Amino acid sequence: MTRQTPPYQPQQVRFVDQLALVATQSAASASRHFLRLALSKWQAALIEDDVLLVASELVTNAVTVTGVLPKPPAWDELERLGLVHVRLVGLSDSVVVEVWDVSDEPPRLQRVGDDAEGGRGLLLVQELATRWGSYRTTGGKAVWAQLAARAPLPQRPRGERRGGRSAAARPGPDAALLRRIRAGLDTAL
Ligand SMILES: Nc1ncnc2c1ncn2[C@@H]1O[C@H](COP(=O)(O)OP(=O)(O)OP(=O)(O)O)[C@@H](O)[C@H]1O
Ligand SMILES: [Mg+2]
Repeated sequence: MTRQTPPYQPQQVRFVDQLALVATQSAASASRHFLRLALSKWQAALIEDDVLLVASELVTNAVTVTGVLPKPPAWDELERLGLVHVRLVGLSDSVVVEVWDVSDEPPRLQRVGDDAEGGRGLLLVQELATRWGSYRTTGGKAVWAQLAARAPLPQRPRGERRGGRSAAARPGPDAALLRRIRAGLDTAL
């Protein structure tokens, strides 16, 4: 299950969006907001529920292994906190959710009894994903899960470099145009 590389080739990638989060209790919910937006932008909202569930489990595990704080951190503690990274990668007919943390310990699927309180997160990931696994990176590892998209994802926008900027990172509207619109609105008010 542990390998050295992501479960896709760079030339297969249609879109990438990624987010760095401070490893606190709120990371799972912040990652859900981020993924909801990304999936809707990529026209992959059909699988939103499954992706959000899988991401919640992976991010919660990543936060746990990074070290959960007993209470929300104060401002002056923020820079000492560890980070986790969440990445959504769009392939032609599936998405891969990747969650990176600083631990090089691989995740371990557990066999749990009916009355066990925990140990079910990865079982849920296994249930919802087509496949999942982890790979080592410098300074940590990524745990990933691949989910079928149910409908093909859009093609990479023409002219965009392979592995290049995602749609989210493309420049927005022309600044001069925005200034003219703003000036027009000011005059109208
Ligand atoms: N990112 C990770 N890094 C290191 N170990 C991990 C990671 N994710 C999971 N594990 C290991 O795999 C075990 C199983 O994870 P799983 O999510 O199934 O259960 P859990 O987190 O212990 O409980 P639950 O998710 O039900 O609250 C964990 O207890 C932990 O030992
Ligand atoms: Mg868990």
